[in-house]
Amino acid sequence: MARSTVVIAAVVVAFLVAFPVPEVTAKKYLVGDKKFWNPDVNYAAWVQGKHFYLGDWLYFVFYRDQHNILEVSKTDYERCISNHPLRNYTRGAGRDIVPLNETRAYYLLDGRGGCFHGMKLSVTVETPPPPPPPM
Ligand SMILES: *[C@@H]1O[C@H](CO)[C@@H](O)[C@H](O)[C@H]1NC(C)=O
Ligand SMILES: *[C@@H]1O[C@H](CO)[C@@H](O)[C@H](O)[C@H]1NC(C)=O
Repeated sequence: MARSTVVIAAVVVAFLVAFPVPEVTAKKYLVGDKKFWNPDVNYAAWVQGKHFYLGDWLYFVFYRDQHNILEVSKTDYERCISNHPLRNYTRGAGRDIVPLNETRAYYLLDGRGGCFHGMKLSVTVETPPPPPPPM
């Protein structure tokens, strides 16, 4: 009995060495997946079922001469007003990153056309879940 316990413990240790528990890593989300940041994409549906954690990233890919990516207040988001953005994430290449580095709601929209054809996205950033308990 004691002997088999030792064997099991050795196997467990060998396993942990071979397959260490992966670090919780930040995730980069390609907004809209294959549809990218474009008109007539249902971003509310895209957000459904996803969890955004502190340290994750949103990656926006779009036609740089047609769209941009601005952060606005909740009120402006609901009304699609882009005149006084809180932050402008557009850098000019049509490839922009929004670092989700605060646990709060982010309200993002296309400012060129004021939520042009539904181009608005709201995500709520959560604290990452605790690591699994030790064995
Ligand atoms: C956002 O920043 C880009 C790059 O600096 C600039 O070209 C653009 O005019 C800005 N847009 C707004 C709405 O501030
Ligand atoms: C989050 O990122 C933005 C943009 O890079 C930066 O301006 C801001 O200071 C950061 N906030 C924190 C809490 O690090």
